[in-house]
Amino acid sequence: MTSLPNQRARVLSGMRPTGALHLGHYHGVLKNWLKLQHEYECFFFVADWHALTTHYDEPQILERSVWEMVIDWLAVGINPGSAGIFIQSRVPEHAELHLLLSMITPLGWLERVPSYKDQQEKLKEKDLATYGFLGYPLLQSADILIYRATQVPVGEDQVAHVELTREVARRFNHLYGREAGFEEKAAEAIKKMGKKNAKLYTELRRKYQEQGEGEALATARALLEDQQNITLGDKERLFGYLEGGGRIILPEPAALLTQASKMPGLDGQKMSKSYHNTISLREDPKDVEQKLRKMPTDPARVRRDDPGEPEKCPVWSLHQVYSGDDVKAWVQQGCRSAGIGCLDCKGPIIDAVLTELAPIRERAAEYEANRGLVRNIISEGCDKARDVARQTLTEVRQAMGLDYRQN
Ligand code: TRP
Ligand code: SF4
Repeated sequence: MTSLPNQRARVLSGMRPTGALHLGHYHGVLKNWLKLQHEYECFFFVADWHALTTHYDEPQILERSVWEMVIDWLAVGINPGSAGIFIQSRVPEHAELHLLLSMITPLGWLERVPSYKDQQEKLKEKDLATYGFLGYPLLQSADILIYRATQVPVGEDQVAHVELTREVARRFNHLYGREAGFEEKAAEAIKKMGKKNAKLYTELRRKYQEQGEGEALATARALLEDQQNITLGDKERLFGYLEGGGRIILPEPAALLTQASKMPGLDGQKMSKSYHNTISLREDPKDVEQKLRKMPTDPARVRRDDPGEPEKCPVWSLHQVYSGDDVKAWVQQGCRSAGIGCLDCKGPIIDAVLTELAPIRERAAEYEANRGLVRNIISEGCDKARDVARQTLTEVRQAMGLDYRQN
């Protein structure tokens, strides 16, 4: 069964604040976000609590990393006019949902998440036998479910977390969507749509349930989305009733797998801070040039007149990212015939990277000089996020019998 968007498609993604971002982030995650922000309603947030699950012993770097990352996002063109940008800890509703979801999440589900053991292995120097670290994929589930996100762009390593989120949502809806008198309440809700829409909904539901017509399901969902006169609770009932289950309070999100960045690091491995092979988005142009000039090439090409093989050279991977067909042909031919030197070959890359980074660095400097503006952007993003988060939380509290709690 597919996920159940009971609103228009909404994208949510988060990033841990790791400090200055680099070209690997840009060519992987950020360019994807730039595209998505035009296609969907988007929320992008700084996962500062997630950073604490592993770096709880380094509080002094957290704040700086948060602001650096926000400025990098803005500098590459994440647009607060189209995407909500916020900081996780400024929307404490995430924490309440995390707590409530923890009541129904079997311990085994968390222990089985691959990153649990993997990260403990990888970060051996840290004590990660903590409650927070075990629970962090569930915190991520709360991050996603609180916005009823339909699509979650993530890298390969995070797909299991979205899968966990789907399971938790399913379990939640199963436990709390089956209210007493569901059928009667659904019938009441149908009436509230008005005669014409009620008839259409009933007809589409029958077509889907009796004949399995996927198109009827899609049309009925679109019809429900457009209803202005019924409450959110009734909408949830009718989405659930459509499929034969109970209310769908927390829709299941889909993972939107982000293509791994083709941008290699300076040594040809994946670009990553821990490999010390990065070019940061705000790197000084002189350093960019230096780093690229020093970059290793085909090890067989020791002297200028030794021919080389692009396939064995990390610089060639950069041409794949930055160069057009004509330059690539020039490299292939020139390298294999020793017609060009490695520094010649790096020339167009140096130009391309500098051209790419110049406007980013400039915009970052503007935001750097105008911290008030950045803080306002974040405040607005937090307000926008909190509005949505509160609505979901109200529904969740009601479903879990916490109705008496005042907002
Ligand atoms: N866990 C993610 C990471 O380490 C960051 C993250 C936190 C996230 N919450 C999220 C990503 C929700 C997508 C959706 O990269
Ligand atoms: Fe690499 Fe270019 Fe030198 Fe060939 S000429 S080895 S592709 S840097």
